[in-house]
Amino acid sequence: MQTLDSVEPLQTVIARWKSQGHKMGLVPTMGDLHEGHLSLVRLAREKADRLVVSVFVNPLQFGPDEDFTRYPRQLESDAALLEKAQVDLLFAPSVDAMYAKGRPAVQQVSAGEIGDILCGLSRPGHFDGVATAVNRLFAVVQPDLAAFGQKDYQQLLVIRRLVAEQGLAIDILGGSIAREADGLAMSTRNRYLDEKARAVAPRLFEELRAAAALIRSGTQEHARILQRSIENLTTAGFRPNYFELRRAVDLTVPSKKDRELVLLAAAHLGETRLIDNLLFSL
Ligand code: PAF
Repeated sequence: MQTLDSVEPLQTVIARWKSQGHKMGLVPTMGDLHEGHLSLVRLAREKADRLVVSVFVNPLQFGPDEDFTRYPRQLESDAALLEKAQVDLLFAPSVDAMYAKGRPAVQQVSAGEIGDILCGLSRPGHFDGVATAVNRLFAVVQPDLAAFGQKDYQQLLVIRRLVAEQGLAIDILGGSIAREADGLAMSTRNRYLDEKARAVAPRLFEELRAAAALIRSGTQEHARILQRSIENLTTAGFRPNYFELRRAVDLTVPSKKDRELVLLAAAHLGETRLIDNLLFSL
């Protein structure tokens, strides 16, 4: 596996691979890789001839009070995992290299309205930052396919919209959520949980499953089920941010005839903000 930290040499390699007719895959990450990332690598590895993984902690998607400076950076162990997973190239640029400091400004991209709801309400500008970074990576790597995790379901839809809006011929693969044995969705931020919080954290997924079961049984008002879930999480020690039922296709509020749904939740546990979701059909 080759490791590069700047755009020009990367583009030389990409141009060579393209001229050889290789199908290019990309898995964008912020590093500190866990099984969730590795499952995305395997998903993309299966479909691509040449696979690039990026590791870049993107400052544009962190708010001023968020964890940008303390976000874990583990490039050496990440590289070892990626090498083992048969990744062809690790792209790990600095902020200046990524955003071409001193040259014409990188195109700022808006996530559109879908970036303003749910997580976008408490993290203003977050999805614009994600869209800008991913758009830049797409422009540099020119992948035929790219894989993103469904744990960040709103982000996945932001990326799908970006690709449609910009008319990019990139196949976006959504990887299913990797979970710990007790159901907690894998996330880099789980590291921040102390022992007590870690023991409570799986309640978030349990509550999503319980609410989905009640909605599918059709016996109660959706609003009541969602409210009850928020109360249960609060009692368990969370500070819920939202617990919502949406249409899986576009995250708008479902009507009675919608069948493909997603429950999405975000909640603080101590200082750590956890998110999770559950896709289901009626
Ligand atoms: O999901 C992430 O790790 C990041 O949001 C992404 C897609 C790599 C963009 O910085």
